[in-house]
Amino acid sequence: MRITKFIAISCLLASTVAGGLLFQAGAAENDSQKRIGYGRGGRMQGGGVSERSKEPIQPIPITFDDNRAKTDLGLKLFFEPRLSKSGWISCNSCHNLATGGADNLPTSIGHKWLFGPINAPTVLNSKFNLAQFWDGRASNLKEQAKGPIANPMEMASNHELAVNVLQTIPEYVKWFKEVYGEGKITIDNVADAIAAFEETLTTPNSRFDWWLKDYDDKISESELQGYALFKEKGCIGCHNGFGVGGSDYQKLGVVKPYSKDVQTLGRYHVTKKESDKFVFKVPLLRNIELTAPYFHDASTWSLSEAVNIMAEYQLGTTLTKDETGNIVAFLKALTGDQPSVIFPILPPSSESTPKPNRN
Ligand code: HEC
Ligand code: HEC
Repeated sequence: MRITKFIAISCLLASTVAGGLLFQAGAAENDSQKRIGYGRGGRMQGGGVSERSKEPIQPIPITFDDNRAKTDLGLKLFFEPRLSKSGWISCNSCHNLATGGADNLPTSIGHKWLFGPINAPTVLNSKFNLAQFWDGRASNLKEQAKGPIANPMEMASNHELAVNVLQTIPEYVKWFKEVYGEGKITIDNVADAIAAFEETLTTPNSRFDWWLKDYDDKISESELQGYALFKEKGCIGCHNGFGVGGSDYQKLGVVKPYSKDVQTLGRYHVTKKESDKFVFKVPLLRNIELTAPYFHDASTWSLSEAVNIMAEYQLGTTLTKDETGNIVAFLKALTGDQPSVIFPILPPSSESTPKPNRN
């Protein structure tokens, strides 16, 4: 209990400090608040600085693509099944942008209908993660994107084959040349374009973000109470920032050992430190109502149950039915505008394009 409180308080402090830094970064306070996404220039109607800009959760900034040619190429590659050995699986198969950027399965189905070992997190807002994967083994989106293409249980191709496929399709050669200035396609550039597209997959304008921007009527009393509880009980210590998570690694089972999955060791796989056993990247809670089942082991389909598990294992407390209901209501107010993606039309293969192989 004490440890959790300490973690919670120190995280809270850290995030307040980080918020403060962001705050002071711009030349004028007003400018920097705009940069981090506050409406009305971070000011209340009366002219004072909004108290809500100091909240430990920040509204998702509304950003614009700065390299349209690159993000368009990344969009095509994200939907490109020919990057897989079978010619059937794309990033979108498991990170379906029609269903919250996830597959809503306990574990994903990959090459030859193989089931993966862990629940697929959403790609939405993944740019706000301090690193990628549950154990943080990829330091950024570009590094991450190379993984699934060559993972035998996912797309089961290899980098050479994937690049060969693209290289035999004249339109891709042209697009890569336009974006990267060279006709020779490399896996680095493939990953770079996919990552650039993923950077655009943010979900601003959730009702809670509007409240953070001082629009009082956007959320209900129950949602607001849920947010107050989320802070009071200590959830905020781990789930904070733009993504309401993603900024830290934490143990699953801080106050009570989590016994449902003792196989998956999380961060320990990366650092080999005993203290990192069962430590996971704190997941983003943005759009959480869209991405059941929950936890790395998909141990529950119910958001209420997920909240109760957190209270029990992370905070050593039991919530009343009303408290759980209010927190769930608050979490649902975190669903933002889903990226409006125009389904891409992909160019045809040429005669020399390697054929799909389902074995
Ligand atoms: C067969 C299903 C499958 C396919 C195909 C797939 N992924 Fe994933 N993705 C997963 C799973 C499962 C994880 C979690 C793995 C882990 O953490 O060990 C994951 C993790 C991620 C993450 C990290 C998110 C986070 O919060 O840590 C990103 C980003 C991502 N995938 C992007 C992609 C991209 C880009 C592609 C296409 C090149 C792709 N994925 C293809 C299943 C898939
Ligand atoms: C000590 C840090 C910590 C605290 C406190 C904490 N969480 Fe979590 N939360 C985590 C971690 C780590 C995970 C990922 C666990 C896993 O699946 O391995 C997680 C997962 C979740 C998930 C599932 C996310 C998903 O995508 O599957 C929800 C929902 C959640 N937390 C809500 C809450 C709520 C509500 C509270 C307060 C009652 C809370 N958390 C308190 C660290 C924390």
